[in-house]
Amino acid sequence: MALALVSDMLREADKRHAGIVGFNTFNYEEVEWIIEAAEAEQVPAIIMLHPDMAYFSNISFEAHAQMTKALAERVSVPIGLHLDHCEDFNEIMHAIKAGFTSVMIDGSKLPFEENVAITRKVVDVAHAMGVCVEGELGRIGQAANREDFLNEDIYTKVEDAVAFVERTQVDSLAVAIGSAHGFYVETPHLALDRLKAINDAIDTPLVLHGGSGIPDDQITIAGQNGINKLNVGTEYGHLLYTNTRKIMEEGLSPREDWMWCMGALKPVMIEYLRRKLHALSY
Ligand code: 13P
Repeated sequence: MALALVSDMLREADKRHAGIVGFNTFNYEEVEWIIEAAEAEQVPAIIMLHPDMAYFSNISFEAHAQMTKALAERVSVPIGLHLDHCEDFNEIMHAIKAGFTSVMIDGSKLPFEENVAITRKVVDVAHAMGVCVEGELGRIGQAANREDFLNEDIYTKVEDAVAFVERTQVDSLAVAIGSAHGFYVETPHLALDRLKAINDAIDTPLVLHGGSGIPDDQITIAGQNGINKLNVGTEYGHLLYTNTRKIMEEGLSPREDWMWCMGALKPVMIEYLRRKLHALSY
């Protein structure tokens, strides 16, 4: 089917008390296999591109959007296309023109008022163009730094979340509740009481970043308390990296071994769709 609007997907997930996995991607095989896996499992999925990954892999927003759109048309489950963590207004406009139907404006490094202002500016233009917007409040940092997920001072505050969604009209909100991006240096313990309080205070679907390495039982409870989108990337990204090193070191043949290397990612993606998504359903 045609690309689904992420805001519709998340509203539906919210109604069903379920969650949808958002996958960081940067090449054709990843996108194809996530979409194939979603169809096989009969669950929706969100394909995400981080601007840094676009530069790293030299894929244009246009090429990524076109291939995702074409692959989504082959399947019967809803597939969303989302620009992950973007801090730049012009880059977001570029992604929208290229065909992205959902974008994230990450103003979380800015003071509250500036975050509200840039987020609202993106929402106004994006909504006029039929595109939905994820905002971020609080700071979701790097899992390599303990402070980035253990320091409660950077967690999202309930009263700020209420004011932020009211003033910006975002379609979904990424919350800082003790998760972070990358490999955790120690097991995270999500601030589930804070999540529940935010969810009780606002209707906007909530997003949990830094999904790789969060224990399943915590994801289950997060799903029961308002998380409708779980972002993942590091776990299978690392597998791709280690497998690529292996084929380079062993001097194996490019075509078959690249397919083997990429193929190893598929079970991890399926596992997320199956185990983690179901963990989000209740
Ligand atoms: P991980 O790479 O830690 O799984 O997080 C992905 C993410 O949150 C993308 O926004």
